[in-house]
Amino acid sequence: MSDNKKVQRPPAEVRFADELARLRESDTAHRPPGWALSLQGARRFIVGDPRAGITRKFVGDPSLIDRALVTLATTRGLMLVGEPGTAKSLLSELIAAAVCGESTLTIQGGAATTEDQIKYSWNYALLVAEGPSPRSLVPAPMLRGMAEGKVVRFEEITRCPLEVQDCMLSLLSERVVAIPELTGPDGMVFANDGFTVIATANTRDRGVNEMSAALKRRFNFETVFPIADLATELDLVEQESRTLLERSGVGVQPRRDVLEVLVTTFRELRDGVTSSGQPMDRLTTVMSTAEAVSVAHAVGLRGWFLRGEAGTPADLVECLAGTAAKDNPDDLARLRRYLEQQASRRKGAQWQALHQARHLLPG
Ligand SMILES: Nc1ncnc2c1ncn2[C@@H]1O[C@H](COP(=O)(O)OP(=O)(O)OP(=O)(O)O)[C@@H](O)[C@H]1O
Ligand SMILES: [Mg+2]
Repeated sequence: MSDNKKVQRPPAEVRFADELARLRESDTAHRPPGWALSLQGARRFIVGDPRAGITRKFVGDPSLIDRALVTLATTRGLMLVGEPGTAKSLLSELIAAAVCGESTLTIQGGAATTEDQIKYSWNYALLVAEGPSPRSLVPAPMLRGMAEGKVVRFEEITRCPLEVQDCMLSLLSERVVAIPELTGPDGMVFANDGFTVIATANTRDRGVNEMSAALKRRFNFETVFPIADLATELDLVEQESRTLLERSGVGVQPRRDVLEVLVTTFRELRDGVTSSGQPMDRLTTVMSTAEAVSVAHAVGLRGWFLRGEAGTPADLVECLAGTAAKDNPDDLARLRRYLEQQASRRKGAQWQALHQARHLLPG
């Protein structure tokens, strides 16, 4: 790789390396065995502490963070569930970075996930040459997390076949993995202090109800909810989209009044009520905060790279078509109705511009 290439999104422990180092230095509270920070330290890393120059990274109920950290300090796993785009993955990454300084021991669950990708596989060339040995063993994230006493993240665990979910059962209760091919002490890998599992699952696709009951019992569940109020969501979308736009080489900041229209539109189409409390049609597509951030990014890119200015409501309409009407043609009709009926009633130049740009919707 050439030197001028930049990683698009380094892991949390790299992005916030200096904050973690400062927290570790000043953290005098008791730490659970094997943890890199105390519970208070980990919580400050995640929810922020402006006086100490620690940024807020996750917006939401701080008591959720406390419960999550306490769960991890027991031997139970933590299961973060919620609608898509509510920052479950981000939260699990931040917790892992805080608790053990590493968030990359991650298994991505899916229909094709196999036991090898969870526990271990073999380097076949070495296996053939010298037979099964610790050298020919290729540990997967779960085995490494156990041996090194680290947090293992299991993303979208409910998408794995049930047999694969079941291979987690004995591991989570006995805290040991047997490797029958190896003899002697190498044949048993025991979990060290600090080993724990954070899984995520979203409530839309393949739901938690399809998860094996035995596995459910080994986790404490925490639901991550969408951000409750407009101002907080707007601040987050502004902060995140600024960072993304800067990194994409965009030379202007996003306009706050345009972002306010964007976030309000997302919230109303998500909840099916206007901010003044009137019922309206909601979309079946998920209009999450994560989607709002990526649309704000796209709006800024359009403005800058097509015209050399900040994004406008017309850019928003162009981007919404691809976000809001993914698989359901009715959503496009609902979106059109929203732009025709709701946007026209709102005060402010940006709302009027949104209304006027309604013909940019396809079809
Ligand atoms: N409460 C929140 N705090 C901070 N960022 C948030 C919050 N909600 C949404 N976001 C935004 O969403 C992005 C994270 O989405 P993430 O991928 O973690 O969601 P997810 O719940 O894992 O979604 P999925 O179910 O689709 O996997 C963040 O990078 C941030 O921009
Ligand atoms: Mg996720």
